[in-house]
Amino acid sequence: MSDFILARMLHVAGVVLWIGGVAFVTTVLIPALRNLPEAEQRLEWFERLENRFATQARIVTLLTGLSGFYMLHTLDAWDRYLSAEYWWVHAMTIVWLIFTLVLFVLEPLVLHRLFQKKARQNSTKAFKVIHRMHWLLLGISMLAIVGAVAGSRGVNLFAG
Ligand code: HEM
Repeated sequence: MSDFILARMLHVAGVVLWIGGVAFVTTVLIPALRNLPEAEQRLEWFERLENRFATQARIVTLLTGLSGFYMLHTLDAWDRYLSAEYWWVHAMTIVWLIFTLVLFVLEPLVLHRLFQKKARQNSTKAFKVIHRMHWLLLGISMLAIVGAVAGSRGVNLFAG
């Protein structure tokens, strides 16, 4: 088996674990928490469950990024960043950059404390905002996924 195929297998396995987790948090976990009557209980469960997922997400984010850059290197395809036709390569990289920034920098330094503070001031509003953010991230991740599956087979979703 070639290194490229191995990298592709790891890449897709990472994407499934990672974005599948984001989908679960967005469509199941946060709606269930928003339905809990007690604000303090909502925050406590969110912290417990999402913190656990954040560790898993950090590992798969690294794996997906490394395997993705390795594939670009093997294909010698860095010039795809210069062409709009390869918008799906930009989309994958942007999704990866956003999550890397959030998981490794913003969440530990700012977002964790900020969300706790906001949730204590107005829990309903804080959970509404965080739910919207998760929907946005899930939306752009799904766009990157469908774009990459079609694009890596030579089909551009947005070309007529
Ligand atoms: C640093 C970030 C990333 C880089 C450099 C990268 C790079 C690549 C490359 C080079 C390919 C193979 C393209 C080809 O065969 O022509 C690929 C495939 C793919 N990537 Fe990424 N990727 C990154 C992040 C992501 C993310 C965050 C997602 C999901 C949201 C993703 C989803 C996919 C999918 C679904 C495929 C197609 C797999 C298949 O159909 O076999 N990638 N990626």
